[in-house]
Amino acid sequence: MQTVILPEDRLAPAIEALKAGEVVAFPTETVYGLGANAQDPQACRKIFEAKGRPVDNPLIVHVLDENQLRELVPGPLPECAKRLVHAFWPGPLTLVLEADKRVSEVVRGGLPTVAVRAPSHPVARALIDGLKAPIAAPSANRSGRPSPTRATDVLTDLQGRVPYIIDGGDSMVGLESTIVDCAVDPPVLLRPGFIGRDRLEKVLGQPVLLAGPETTHRAPGMKYRHYAPQAPVIWLNMRDDQRIGQELDHLRQEFSTLALLAPLRWEAYPAQAFRPIGQDVNTVAHGLFTGFRELDDMHPGAIVVIWPKDTAGVGLAVANRLGKAASRQVEE
Ligand code: TXA
Ligand code: MG
Repeated sequence: MQTVILPEDRLAPAIEALKAGEVVAFPTETVYGLGANAQDPQACRKIFEAKGRPVDNPLIVHVLDENQLRELVPGPLPECAKRLVHAFWPGPLTLVLEADKRVSEVVRGGLPTVAVRAPSHPVARALIDGLKAPIAAPSANRSGRPSPTRATDVLTDLQGRVPYIIDGGDSMVGLESTIVDCAVDPPVLLRPGFIGRDRLEKVLGQPVLLAGPETTHRAPGMKYRHYAPQAPVIWLNMRDDQRIGQELDHLRQEFSTLALLAPLRWEAYPAQAFRPIGQDVNTVAHGLFTGFRELDDMHPGAIVVIWPKDTAGVGLAVANRLGKAASRQVEE
């Protein structure tokens, strides 16, 4: 199959492809998604094939608004969902809710629930609008790879496996959406993201529990290794520069070549490659997956990330993705 890259002002062929039961990769404000008509199970199966995704890992259904959400769930929305929708949609927030029986088992990965979000990105919205149906879409990477934040990342992973990739430039957020399970009370944060736990709790006026081993069965994606470059990732969760320097010297002996994703002051360190990680946690979130992919392309012995953990706001999401990508974490 030939893969065509479409500019974001030429969506007609992509909408036609979606109507014909094909998959299309498209930009959202979080990361690029690989979408198909959520009402066409045969089309949704192609998503799993193109990504090499395990069939028990369900997809996120993308809708325009609360009205379209209501068609996917039985009865009235739980209070939790109403509040979160009003506060954060359209935007980088996914809600898990009891699923209406019309939602295909392929989309749900066999679960009784469905994950739904309304993206704010104009291209994603124009596709849903043009198809006149919700779009089921996980991230547009090959399974196990970091989520794509640029059209070229999608091309690297899916060339020849999808007919169209829409190029919408750099993803604004750079990390996947926050996922909240509203089918349980109190609600559970299944995946941290750009919208932090503090903001959710403020809107809900109640605590949001953190997903733990006891909730893994409700969030099948969490059990798979994610976000991982080919090179081993070592996370130096440290503040003391002297200790960091010593650790780097050890790692250089162990792996011979290092690629650093680190604060600017480490640029002069003798590594094979260097990429600044950013100064505040939002910039770190935005550049994390791009950084992984760029450094991985240099084929280093290891990728070393220097970033002291900070769980406020999007920091929890950064720590979550780093924790999943890293094969080793060194703390002070
Ligand atoms: O920002 C995002 O969420 C992006 C863009 C494209 O919207 N999508 C995304 O999807 O990152 P991805 O690859 O993470 O796949 C969907 C995630 C998986 O972790 C899956 O386990 C979880 O959503 N999920 C889907 N349905 C679920 C359900 N019913 N219950 C719990 N988790 C669910
Ligand atoms: Mg994914």
